[in-house]
Amino acid sequence: MIEINNLHFTYHQKSENPKKALNGISLSIKEGEFVTIIGQNGSGKTTLAKHLNVILSPTKGTVLIDGINTQEEEVWEIRKKVGMVFQNPDNQIICSTVRSDIAFGPENLGIDRVEIEKRVNESLRLLELNDFQNYPPYMLSEGLKQKVAIASVLAMETKYIIFDEPTSMLDPSGKKEVFELIINLRKKRDVTIIYITHIMKEVLKSDRVIVMSEGKVVLDNSPNKIFSKLEILRSLALDVPIIPDIVYRLRKRGISIPQQIITTQELINCLTQ
Ligand SMILES: Nc1ncnc2c1ncn2[C@@H]1O[C@H](COP(=O)(O)OP(=O)(O)O)[C@@H](O)[C@H]1O
Ligand SMILES: [Mg+2]
Repeated sequence: MIEINNLHFTYHQKSENPKKALNGISLSIKEGEFVTIIGQNGSGKTTLAKHLNVILSPTKGTVLIDGINTQEEEVWEIRKKVGMVFQNPDNQIICSTVRSDIAFGPENLGIDRVEIEKRVNESLRLLELNDFQNYPPYMLSEGLKQKVAIASVLAMETKYIIFDEPTSMLDPSGKKEVFELIINLRKKRDVTIIYITHIMKEVLKSDRVIVMSEGKVVLDNSPNKIFSKLEILRSLALDVPIIPDIVYRLRKRGISIPQQIITTQELINCLTQ
């Protein structure tokens, strides 16, 4: 379980221009959940994510990973549990071949050679990257680079994986492929996923949605409940997916259907009953 208690964070705290980014966040994430985090640019999503694998440390408050305070443990001990995939794959590709890049994370965790080979092979297989294993990552398309970044995190076998807008730099087919791969991970691995996105279609697939604004959590509920609060989402300048939007408009015209409908199939079922 991840437990965040009254987390505050200010960038450049001791400078003349401190910038408050997190403003008292408390939440917990249970094992096995698939949580998405949405919110306008600058609402603090990345800053929050960076606290979970100790890229940043709280100005105030605590972050506990499986009961361990991230401030009281070696950074690598926490990173054995929490992996992170960033928006831009170029930021996390380090080595000269795909294979060595995937091995880099487990090597840093001090895992033995035989086990590393096993994990690298397994990650290559899961992400269908076998044909590219000896390629230099910089020669690959953005979508393939992002798959390498995901394979690298998988090879670390962390229990929690944070994805920070992993599809935002990809073309439409890359977006779809990488997203499907991520949601399928749960079928293959016992993994807890924290998925930051601004793509509302992606949000619909999660168990739980956390909406952030100005460094705070403003909504935390199932996708159905979240998307029935269209006014709040609009006031936060967030997109609303197409089906909840249609439902909202139909209801405004006096057609009686529940606002919690979020998928095409649910809408069809309801209208043809
Ligand atoms: N390195 C930094 N230095 C100063 N301010 C920053 C830095 N990174 C982010 N911020 C500020 O912190 C706030 C939250 O940013 P961020 O966590 O990146 O939001 P999001 O990921 O939701 O777009 C924003 O106001 C942003 O400008
Ligand atoms: Mg961000």
